[in-house]
Amino acid sequence: MAVTRPLLDLVNVTAGYGQTPVLFDVDMSVAEGEIACLLGRNGVGKTTLLRSIIGLNALTSGNIYFNDADITKAPTYKRARKGIAYIPQGREIIPYLTVLDNLKMGFSASGKKAKRIPAEIYDFFPMLKEHLQRQGGLLSGGQQQQLAIARGLMCNPKIILLDEPTEGIQPSIVQEIEDTLRRINIEKGITIIVVEQKIEFARKLAQQFFIMEKGAIVEKGKTDKLADSLLHRYLAV
Ligand SMILES: Nc1ncnc2c1ncn2[C@@H]1O[C@H](COP(=O)(O)OP(=O)(O)OP(=O)(O)O)[C@@H](O)[C@H]1O
Ligand SMILES: [Mg+2]
Repeated sequence: MAVTRPLLDLVNVTAGYGQTPVLFDVDMSVAEGEIACLLGRNGVGKTTLLRSIIGLNALTSGNIYFNDADITKAPTYKRARKGIAYIPQGREIIPYLTVLDNLKMGFSASGKKAKRIPAEIYDFFPMLKEHLQRQGGLLSGGQQQQLAIARGLMCNPKIILLDEPTEGIQPSIVQEIEDTLRRINIEKGITIIVVEQKIEFARKLAQQFFIMEKGAIVEKGKTDKLADSLLHRYLAV
């Protein structure tokens, strides 16, 4: 019988920018249905790792497997069609487009023609329905983050890669985002990898943690066993 891999499996991933290496031999496995958090100080390579998974950074060596296929050399749009959604740090919604048009952009990632926004999007993010005709750039930071997550959901992903979704967002909306991500995970079975600086947010949401230091994964395990000593050593909290 064939051995099945975890939904996402990074093996000896090495990558960088030009001649500058940033990631060194990263191994990372995330099982279907899991929520994993990726922790680490500024500049250790967390964003670069997510960019490598979606194909915005080519690997110098190593392999990435997704849903039992080797996607190491696949272009970004094919990875999106296979079910990887990427919500970048800083959200990158289009400020002069309406909320509705920003949402519709999510369809293009799936390769399908634009159709109606599924009702579940408004069920997960009721705020969006009230602001459909507003320019995206006029939403608050927290609302823009919710819009970015909703746009990612439009292509029916199997996994969502989230880069610091709570950065610069007020506490009440952070709580809302936490609750919604948990619902998306449980109700739709979508796997999530979240890069976070807010340890308590990551701890409550994720079952699995990975800690990065200087471009390598130095610790990993279950979040309920995430010791304060590790946080002190690698995250300066
Ligand atoms: N476009 C780029 N060109 C060259 N070097 C880059 C580029 N983007 C990032 N780097 C470098 O790669 C390293 C890792 O950066 P990365 O953005 O992946 O870190 P990070 O862990 O996401 O940091 P932060 O917590 O601040 O978001 C850093 O040394 C950074 O200066
Ligand atoms: Mg980053």
